[in-house]
Amino acid sequence: MKKAVVIGGSNGIGLAITNQLIKKGFFVSILDIKVPDDNSLYDKSLYEYHYIDLLNLDVFDLEIFKNDEEVQLLMITAGFGRVAPFESLSITEIRNMMQVNASATIQILRFFYDRIRSDKDFYTGVMVSIAGIVSSPLFSVYAASKAALNRMIESVNIELEEAGVSNRILNVSPGSIKGTAFNGGKNDLSLTSSLAEEIIANFLNRQELFIPQYEEVFHSVIDRYKHDEHQFGIDSYQYKMASGRLDAENRKTIVGYLSGTFDLFHMGHLNLLKRAKAQCDYLIVGVHPNAAHKGKKTYISFEERLEIVQSIKYVDKAIESLPEDNEVWNLYHYDKLFVGSDYKGTDRFNAYEKYFEDKGVEIVYFPYTKGTSSTQLRQLIADKIGEEK
Ligand code: CTP
Repeated sequence: MKKAVVIGGSNGIGLAITNQLIKKGFFVSILDIKVPDDNSLYDKSLYEYHYIDLLNLDVFDLEIFKNDEEVQLLMITAGFGRVAPFESLSITEIRNMMQVNASATIQILRFFYDRIRSDKDFYTGVMVSIAGIVSSPLFSVYAASKAALNRMIESVNIELEEAGVSNRILNVSPGSIKGTAFNGGKNDLSLTSSLAEEIIANFLNRQELFIPQYEEVFHSVIDRYKHDEHQFGIDSYQYKMASGRLDAENRKTIVGYLSGTFDLFHMGHLNLLKRAKAQCDYLIVGVHPNAAHKGKKTYISFEERLEIVQSIKYVDKAIESLPEDNEVWNLYHYDKLFVGSDYKGTDRFNAYEKYFEDKGVEIVYFPYTKGTSSTQLRQLIADKIGEEK
């Protein structure tokens, strides 16, 4: 049975392509962060769903598809963007956009490249955008991510040609697509299915670049850009401003902070770090140089505790803590301060509550993990050593 993989196939144009492929007799594996609506699929017996998150992509999860000889077609439609001035994009949003739209997509292409650079037919397509071809004020980072795909696909297709291989990567670069959930719209298959049909026809004809409505609209758009890039940019800016599509909301990267000794790293520590990272974009962790403030000694040196904490995937930055968490606020202006619930109501945290009252900093208490603590582990070790002596 011929099979296809559609990454981002649960919505929009990816969903429409999936349906067209099913109509053509393909069995489609939809890889998406969201589960597709069963009713929106043409034949429920001809698709399966797999979870994938391109933000945390592990391409090796795609091994089963890459190794399946029946898979003949790979389409990547996942991606997101926001029509907004550059200053309103957050650092996290920029990182995520570049990761999903460009980095993850390029890695997937590389992962499947054995199949693409082969004598056997293999059809590959990527949803790029006209924004990756012309300058796109108010869509700057989205355009940058799509421009990266454009140059990459264009270059690799030459490598394929020079290698004497007939497979190509199809770059589909539309203007805006009507009938997709992109930018807050709704899926409307009546609007996307004819485009999906055209895309598949281009696939099968081994095209390298397909710009929908090229003759009617985009030929002249690209010509205008080539003729005067600067004037094109000004016109494009004004067009977007007038279009009502601007979403100028200022997004912020939420910075979180917590501190601890992290001696004999245990599950209580891990739970705390995991919960904290789930509530912020960037987590800074202060590691106490020693446990003198608790009247205790650590088993593990400060350098090793710092390195262990820094290596936890939920931690973006590990630093040496300062005696008081509010002193660290002067350095990093974090938005949230996290701590285990054992600190609620203590003099120290009561003082922080007061200090942060007018600074927009939220203090978040997480449930203390019962049954483990560094003190408990230290005690266990001490008892054991005592026994053996
Ligand atoms: N923590 C937790 N659950 C545990 C242990 C610690 O949620 N079982 C939290 C604490 O509330 C604190 C952070 O982990 O916010 C770091 O605390 P740390 O002093 O390293 O942890 P303890 O294991 O409690 O250390 P000690 O026994 O030396 O006090």
